[in-house]
Amino acid sequence: MARPVGEVPAPAPVQPDGVTLSEIRPHLVVPALEMVARVFSGDWAEALRRAIHAQVPAERIRVAVRGEVVVGFAMWGAYDGSPDRFGPFGVDPAERGRRIGAALLADALAVMARAGCRRAWFLWTEPDGPAFRLYQRAGFEVTRRFAIMRRML
Ligand SMILES: CC(C)(COP(=O)(O)OP(=O)(O)OC[C@H]1O[C@@H](n2cnc3c(N)ncnc32)[C@H](O)[C@@H]1OP(=O)(O)O)[C@@H](O)C(=O)NCCC(=O)NCCS
Repeated sequence: MARPVGEVPAPAPVQPDGVTLSEIRPHLVVPALEMVARVFSGDWAEALRRAIHAQVPAERIRVAVRGEVVVGFAMWGAYDGSPDRFGPFGVDPAERGRRIGAALLADALAVMARAGCRRAWFLWTEPDGPAFRLYQRAGFEVTRRFAIMRRML
């Protein structure tokens, strides 16, 4: 899916109750890595770890924080060297359905626009899931479809 950035305004900011959005800051690095490793696939934890190790600009790693606890994250331009690639992006399952995902997506798109990106894109999402609807509402459109194939051995 992809969406223009800049020429199409970012979605309106969203403010979930009790949650602060910001770029990643030094004291949030370990909590963010721990949350992503605990809740998501090893791939995503590795992507975050690599981005931090490569010292990508902090504005490219957005976090949602409740108190001192990182409850969600969204990265852009921090994966495979593509400046306009969005993701990975996720919210702790215990915190879903509170508009934290919508807030992170709107925040990341606004920062991407300020940084001069022309579009945002990513490769994979499941059709008809919550993420897909979120992306559609934020102006993303399907640009390519992939099929998973398998064969019994
Ligand atoms: C996609 C994701 C980031 C959305 O986070 P979120 O904080 O739940 O987002 P929002 O609260 O803004 O809601 C988004 C949608 O998810 C629904 N939802 C998802 N999980 C929910 C839950 N546990 N309880 C209630 N609603 C939930 C919301 O109802 C909403 O759908 P709707 O607007 O069609 O009703 C989150 O579901 C997630 O981390 N998913 C796994 C990772 C993923 O798929 N990332 C995207 C990869 S491309």
